[in-house]
This record gives sequence, structure tokens and C-alpha cells, in this order.
Amino acid sequence: MARAIILVGAQWGDEGKGKVVDYLANSFDITARFAGGHNAGHTVIYGDHKKFVLQLIPCGILREGKHAVIGSGTVVDPTALLSEIDMLAAAGVDVTGRLHVSARAHLIFPYHRQMDKASEAARGDGKIGTTARGIGPAYEDKMTRQGLRMCDLMDADVFRAKITRVIAEKNAISRAAYGVELETTGLIEESLRQAERLRPFMKDASTYLNRALDENRSVLFEGAQGTMLDIDHGTYPFVTSSSATSGGACTGTGVPPTRVTGVIGVTKAYTTRVGGGPFPTEMPDIEAKEVRDRGNEYGAVTGRPRRCGWLDLMMLRYAVMINGIGSMVVTKLDVFDTQKEIQVCVGYKYKGTSVKEMPAQVEKFAALEPEYKTVPGWQSPTFGLRDESKLPQLAKDYLKFISDEIGTEVGMISTGPERDATMVRAGSRLEKWLRD
Ligand code: GDP
Ligand code: IMO
Ligand code: MG
Repeated sequence: MARAIILVGAQWGDEGKGKVVDYLANSFDITARFAGGHNAGHTVIYGDHKKFVLQLIPCGILREGKHAVIGSGTVVDPTALLSEIDMLAAAGVDVTGRLHVSARAHLIFPYHRQMDKASEAARGDGKIGTTARGIGPAYEDKMTRQGLRMCDLMDADVFRAKITRVIAEKNAISRAAYGVELETTGLIEESLRQAERLRPFMKDASTYLNRALDENRSVLFEGAQGTMLDIDHGTYPFVTSSSATSGGACTGTGVPPTRVTGVIGVTKAYTTRVGGGPFPTEMPDIEAKEVRDRGNEYGAVTGRPRRCGWLDLMMLRYAVMINGIGSMVVTKLDVFDTQKEIQVCVGYKYKGTSVKEMPAQVEKFAALEPEYKTVPGWQSPTFGLRDESKLPQLAKDYLKFISDEIGTEVGMISTGPERDATMVRAGSRLEKWLRD
């Protein structure tokens, strides 16, 4: 069976998915995004310190001759997509003939961004801390069946008629709910101009992917966000508005579950979160600052400082269950190189009693008391290491402890932001997935 491997974030996003996908993409013919939009920021660094932050276009595009698909489960801001295409072109990466955007992908317009901001402002202290990219409002329109899709944009008459009606309704809602007048002057003409540039990229992406698999070409699904930001399984309402877990790869591309051959999870050696919402293992300010500085934990796109905390094995076990993760990638091991002692959350208590399942209610989640195990740090450099045998014993012990606790292998380790600061473990399931 052709290889179809899903890669997802196991935490609250920013686990290093971009770096890992970039590394793995060389072993696949196609990479495909299935959810989210340009709220994502996937960092890839290689060569003479070439750095890319990709938001919508799958990271596999950086590999020569490889194809990249933006699936139907994503939300596409035409302006953002075009500027990403231009950014790549300026860096010498030509996407022509290699980038395919689903005709069924929903669109984000400037009024979605306005509504995102207005809705956040209206929430006051309870705000989600969104990326203000219009993601939530665009998915809202999709679910209420008012969204406009790539295929609509390509038909000027249909587009004009639909968007005119939608704008009138949105404006009425926005005025009444937020007292905000939506700025839509020139929007239709500008969108139709953008349509002409985007037209060559539009495809029936599900047919494209299924045919590719028929022809024994391999696909790597590039998750965005992370398990705990998933609309169904995350810390609702402090989540994004799409299915960031492995199930989303099927609904978001039209590739059926029966074709999926494996699921990879990505976790940092610790935990971070951007935006609002509970975070049981969040570190006190001083420790968080140290990890933030060492790990350069600032939003890839927004520049926001990321909240930092200890690794949470309860969360990783949950991510393994929800996604069916068969191999875990641990990134940013090097960030702990100077750490004397490492704390790891092995369980939760709620009002003094052990908790076995992730609480559904966010108020309960916020009241969890993590139970920690303290393990010794290796206090020697792993930064840039590529050879597994050179890992300090205490680092190996840390990785073994993680894999024992989550009940799945640690198949790959990342020791730096550069492409080559990576090791796939000999004899791992992941190694096999890259081969056959
Ligand atoms: P993504 O959203 O999951 O793709 O992750 P981001 O790109 O938003 O954030 C991950 C950050 O960590 C980026 O700045 C990467 O360059 C960096 N990074 C990835 N892997 C490693 C690693 O193993 N070590 C270090 N020090 N940095 C890493
Ligand atoms: P990548 O793919 C980290 C967070 C936002 C906010 C919440 C909702 O780079 O891992 P949204 O704009 O999606 O409505 O915001 O989700 N968020 C992310 N956090 N990494 C991401 O993507 C994120 N995408 C959204 O900070 O808390
Ligand atoms: Mg990111």
C-alpha cells in the first residue's frame, strides 16, 4: 500500500512540526495541509541559514520537485497565500506546477479578520488570544453554510452574487453585535484580480491525492496547530476552530482512513502555549523566562512570547490515544542541555483525587494539580547532534522514560533548528515508515 502518513502536533502547537516535516518530506512525494490557515507558522531552517516561516503552504514545497497540497479542510486567505507564493519566489523557490489548492477550501476575507478582532475585544478578559487572522469567523461561515470557496472565487458572476449577500448579512450582525462597520470597499474587484493569479493552482485535491496513492506515490499530511487546540478534543473554548488531530487529515483532504498507514506525533522536550487558556504545567515566571530564552520561544508569525512549562505526560498519553500515534518525535532536546533538574508531569489530581481522564470542562482542567517526577538533567551539549550513540546517557534515559510512559516509541529526536540537527532512531517504526 502506498505510504500515507499523518503528522500532528501533540501539544498546543509550535512543537517543531515545520522542521520535522521539512526533514521527512524528502522521503515523500507529496506533503498536504488538511486544517487551519495562516494562523500556523512552521519554521524551516537549512543551508546557509536559510530561514522560512511557512503559514499555509506545506513545508515539502522547499524540497526540489516535490508537490504540496492545500486541502479542503483548510481556510485560505488569498492575500496571505499570494504573498507566501511571492516570498518563496523571491527566495528562488518556484511553486508553479507543484502547488495544488483544493477547489473546496474555504476563503478568508478581510471582514473575517475584523470580526475575529471585534469578537476578541468583546470577550474582554476571557479572550481566546487568537492570531487575529480571521480563522474562527471563516470556519463559522463554513459551518453555517455561508462560506465562499476557492471554486466560487473562480466564477465571477457566482462570486459577486454570493459575496454581496453574505456581506450584507455580516455587516448587519457586526453592527448589532460589535458596533463595527465592515470594510468591504473594493473587496470584490480585488478578490477577482487575485482569482486570476490563483486559478492555475486550483484542483480537485481529493482526486489528486487519491490518484497519487493509486499510483503508489507517498503522501505526508502536515498537521497544523496541535491536539490540545483541536476544536473537539482540545481545551475548548481555548482552541482553534478546526480539526487539528489525525482524523482531520481524512475529512480535510478526502483521503479515507483505510488508506492511512501511520501517524506521527511531535512534542517538544517541554511544553509551550500561546494565547489564553489553562496550562497545568506552566512554569513560574523566572524558570519560564530561562526556557523561553534558550528555546527562543516567541511566535513564529506574531512574535508573541510563548508561555513555557514542563513536559506533560498525561497530555501526551491523551494525544497518543486521540491521534493513534505510532511514533513520537521529540524536538528541542538541546534546550535542556544546561538544565540541572527536569520536572515531568506524570499525572493530575483534582481536589486531591487522582484524575484518569482529561476533564472536558475547561474550569476543571484549569484546577488540575500536576504530579511531578524530577529527573536529573544531562548537563552536556546535545545541540546539533545527529548521532544517536553520542547522546548523553541521562538524555537517553529521559527519552526512554517518555516512551515508557506514553506507550509508544520515540522514533526521532531533534537537537537544533537546522534541518540536519536530527536523528531518526535505528530500528524504529518511523525509520521503517520512511522506507516502505
Ligand atoms: P511548528 O509550528 O510546530 O512548525 O513550530 P514553530 O516553527 O512555530 O516553532 C518551533 C521553533 O523551534 C522554531 O523556531 C524552530 O526553528 C525551532 N526548533 C525546531 N526544532 C528545534 C530543536 O530541536 N531545537 C531548537 N533549539 N529549536 C528547534
Ligand atoms: P502552528 O501550526 C500555536 C492558537 C492561538 C490561540 C488559539 C486560537 O504554528 O503550531 P486562532 O487564530 O486559530 O483562532 O487562535 O489557537 N494557535 C496556535 N498556537 N501554534 C499554532 O499553529 C497556532 N494556531 C493557532 O494562539 O490561542
Ligand atoms: Mg508554529
